Amino acid sequence: MDELPFTPRRFTSSPAVQLAETLGRIAPGKLSKVLFTTGGSDAVEVAIKVARAATGRFKTLSFWDAFHGAGFGASSVGGEALFRSGPHGPLMPGAEHVAPFGSFNCPYGGTNVQESGDACARMIDYVLGRDGDFAAFIAEPMRAVPYVAPPGFWQKVRDACDRTGTLLIFDEIPTGLGKTGTMFSCDHDGVVPDILVLGKGLGGGILPIAATICRPELDVGGDWAFGHYTHEKNPVTARAALETIAIIEEDRLVENAARVGDAALERLRGWMDDIEAVGDVRGRGFLIGIELVEDRATKAPARDLAERTMYAALERGLSFKTTMGNVLTLTPPLVTTQAQMDQALDILLDALKSAIADSRH
Ligand SMILES: Cc1ncc(COP(=O)(O)O)c(C=O)c1O
Repeated sequence: MDELPFTPRRFTSSPAVQLAETLGRIAPGKLSKVLFTTGGSDAVEVAIKVARAATGRFKTLSFWDAFHGAGFGASSVGGEALFRSGPHGPLMPGAEHVAPFGSFNCPYGGTNVQESGDACARMIDYVLGRDGDFAAFIAEPMRAVPYVAPPGFWQKVRDACDRTGTLLIFDEIPTGLGKTGTMFSCDHDGVVPDILVLGKGLGGGILPIAATICRPELDVGGDWAFGHYTHEKNPVTARAALETIAIIEEDRLVENAARVGDAALERLRGWMDDIEAVGDVRGRGFLIGIELVEDRATKAPARDLAERTMYAALERGLSFKTTMGNVLTLTPPLVTTQAQMDQALDILLDALKSAIADSRH
């Protein structure tokens, strides 16, 4: 209480200012103007408001099947039925969607992610250019399924945004601060967005703080209250975020995610040689997906097997989630050591084999 008292909105807060400066230092390109919120969903809403105010347009484009948070704006740009339908009624007007690349039954066709990514980028270019009236395109640079964007994909989307005066918003809430083996997952593609949204790990994974980081030219909200959250400059959460970033840098946790994650991906890819149900292994750093399929040719999802594997792993002390029903998604913390990762994969292999044996009975 003495060192980090609550800061009402009318006062400034040194830890929050230091955190904004630190984010400006580590964020890609010239991104440096920051607003804080307590959760990722709110930070997405701030990004949408900034994009609307800066462009004078209101429409957004985003991916079907994406998740960007549970608020009205975030659910509107999100593409999951679970958050879009229901008794709460209509969502935000002007929130349009395109199908993402790579999914099972991908409408773009193609025989691989590169082909479907190329077609998807052409579709985004077409939709943005058709009326030229979109405020922003918002997406996760590495789709959470996870799907790694094919080479050149984000550059094409960046070009389409520039050509049509659309702002590019990257939602790095799950991936920012090292998860994919680089500080931000857009660093892999060398593409800088106009607005980047951070959350989750920013508070060390235990305290609620998120951030919207913008190009300096987008500082257009001086006369409005885009943020105005009670805890927008909370010194405790800001201090936690500063410590988190300091530890990530000092302990070289981004490099750890790259090294241990790459080794895990290599080991997992080896499973494809002898386990027919492992249809694909993909990811980067500590965001890894193992896609279980009924049949490798059709890639039909093996949802029952995925669920059995997850429960068998839980019984053995390993927790992870499944995405789209059939993708075992491993997102270990940045501090995970090589030995811990080896142990986790031993458990996973055992769980998978026992689930396969069970489903044959
Ligand atoms: C990609 C993405 N965007 C936004 C959010 C929303 O963040 P929060 O739960 O902090 O509102 C999440 C949370 O799961 C997420 O994964």
